Amino acid sequence: MSIHIGDLVPDFEAETTQGPIRFHDWIGDHWAFFFSHPADFTPVCTTEIGRTAQLSKEFASRRVRPIGLSTDWIHAHREWIEDVNATQNTHVDFPIIADPEAKIARAFDMIHPGEDVTDAVRSVFIIDPDKKLRLTMTYPMNVGRNFDEILRVIDALQLADARRIATPADWTPGGKVIIPVSISNDEAKDIFPKGWDTLRSYLRVTEL
Ligand code: BEZ
Repeated sequence: MSIHIGDLVPDFEAETTQGPIRFHDWIGDHWAFFFSHPADFTPVCTTEIGRTAQLSKEFASRRVRPIGLSTDWIHAHREWIEDVNATQNTHVDFPIIADPEAKIARAFDMIHPGEDVTDAVRSVFIIDPDKKLRLTMTYPMNVGRNFDEILRVIDALQLADARRIATPADWTPGGKVIIPVSISNDEAKDIFPKGWDTLRSYLRVTEL
């Protein structure tokens, strides 16, 4: 089953390295960075779990809870976390879901048989406090994710929600933003008192 942007994400119960969870309750009123990795005790995955742990404060400051998943058993996760902590000089402080029967991986369409018939690919799901999918990215087995981009898209989503804007290509926090066409010039005067540049009638850019 594939999940689309805007869908309510599947709820599930799972065993994790921090105890059992029900997914929607675990998200609570936070955002979630839910990501799968192919297998424990593999090199790229080790760096990704480590990077997520190193960015713990960055996720917390955005009210985002990270949670990993692979189709491995809980005892393997626990043993492997020791390696991650030692080699990546960090402390893994977020849960990793054990999904040995791949039930959750299948529900989230993380198994791509062209890559591997049992292991999950590197899926990313950014989920909002309403448990709606806001963004998804899929990487193959042999390419590690870009965590600057993961934080950037979370910033862009949260800013778009808060300020009724859209973000242009390669936007980073503090950069100019786009006034959506759904906002008339009259309405924009109230919302964006600093004004804006009109490059085309459909392309208005402003600073916040
Ligand atoms: C890795 O994390 O290094 C990896 C995992 C599965 C297949 C290939 C690479």
